[in-house]
Amino acid sequence: MLFSYAGANKIGGGVVWRILASRVGPLRFQSIVPAGHGDYFGVRVLTAKVFFANLCTLFVWGEAGSSGAELMPEFLETDMIEVKELRRRFGPVVAVDGVSFSAAKGQVVGLLGPNGAGKTTTMRMLTCYIQPDSGTASVCGHDILTDSIGVRRSLGYLAENSPAYPEMTVGGFLKFICDIRQIKGRRRKAALDRVVPMCSIESVYHQTIETLSKGYKRRVGLAQALIHDPEVLILDEPTDGLDPNQKHEVRRLIGAMAKDKCIIISTHILEEVEAVCSRAIIVARGKVLVDSTPQELKGKYHASLDEVFRRITTTQAAATN
Ligand SMILES: Nc1ncnc2c1ncn2[C@@H]1O[C@H](COP(=O)(O)OP(=O)(O)OP(=O)(O)O)[C@@H](O)[C@H]1O
Ligand SMILES: [Mg+2]
Repeated sequence: MLFSYAGANKIGGGVVWRILASRVGPLRFQSIVPAGHGDYFGVRVLTAKVFFANLCTLFVWGEAGSSGAELMPEFLETDMIEVKELRRRFGPVVAVDGVSFSAAKGQVVGLLGPNGAGKTTTMRMLTCYIQPDSGTASVCGHDILTDSIGVRRSLGYLAENSPAYPEMTVGGFLKFICDIRQIKGRRRKAALDRVVPMCSIESVYHQTIETLSKGYKRRVGLAQALIHDPEVLILDEPTDGLDPNQKHEVRRLIGAMAKDKCIIISTHILEEVEAVCSRAIIVARGKVLVDSTPQELKGKYHASLDEVFRRITTTQAAATN
């Protein structure tokens, strides 16, 4: 859910507008106020679970009254991530070469590609860790070039090597992340009570991070990405290093969260794509070769996803060079 407000009509529209804009993001909010009715006064806000079937409880329309049904699809299909022609090179190496795609709430997008294809670099640009040479992207309406704070607030990021402070305990590290994200008091306790069992790290809570095994470090990385319950999750090889039980558990977790979030994962495990991804974007040498669904790809090539991946990345990548 993005936001719900069960309010009377004729409330101070300007105030409501500002509250909503700060919570929902101005672009998305404007997009659901019909043209001509989006004045700042007399904006009605209702909860409309019936219309949105639990996908969203926010419903706004102007005084003159347009029907919710005609606004609903526009709202539900709003993209949470938009990537436009991103490019990035490192010296002579072109890591990302004009990548564009978008992703909406409810989608789990699998970013696939051979080693060195540009997956991590794309994710690092999307999460504002590095800047693109050209192109841009937005996360929940926040531009990565002009509003990196907004971007970072909206997303949780599990980086490739789960960076953390080795000398901190797991609990100390997660509390530190809460401080950075300004999650305090009861909210902090609630956040820790939620993510610690979610990521199965109770047994190592008091252990220093440097003493953890690779899989447990990964789980702590996942916990910090989830701690503020972000709308967008960017997970770079989330199951890398996990034992089979934990792999299964993390996939289950991603599936359970998918309804309310927009999730991008990179992975080399194609069975994982089939298990959790509603879309598969295959990249090679910094370019998007395919943007489809796992089912469509298997149907089109009459082959397993492994075979499809091999065919696409060996033939098409070669053809683009
Ligand atoms: N900081 C950097 N300095 C120099 N080259 C870099 C840097 N980061 C990435 N590269 C290069 O950019 C290319 C893309 O790397 P990237 O890490 O994005 O690939 P990837 O798709 O995530 O690969 P993998 O599947 O191995 O994780 C590679 O050739 C890599 O060597
Ligand atoms: Mg990578």
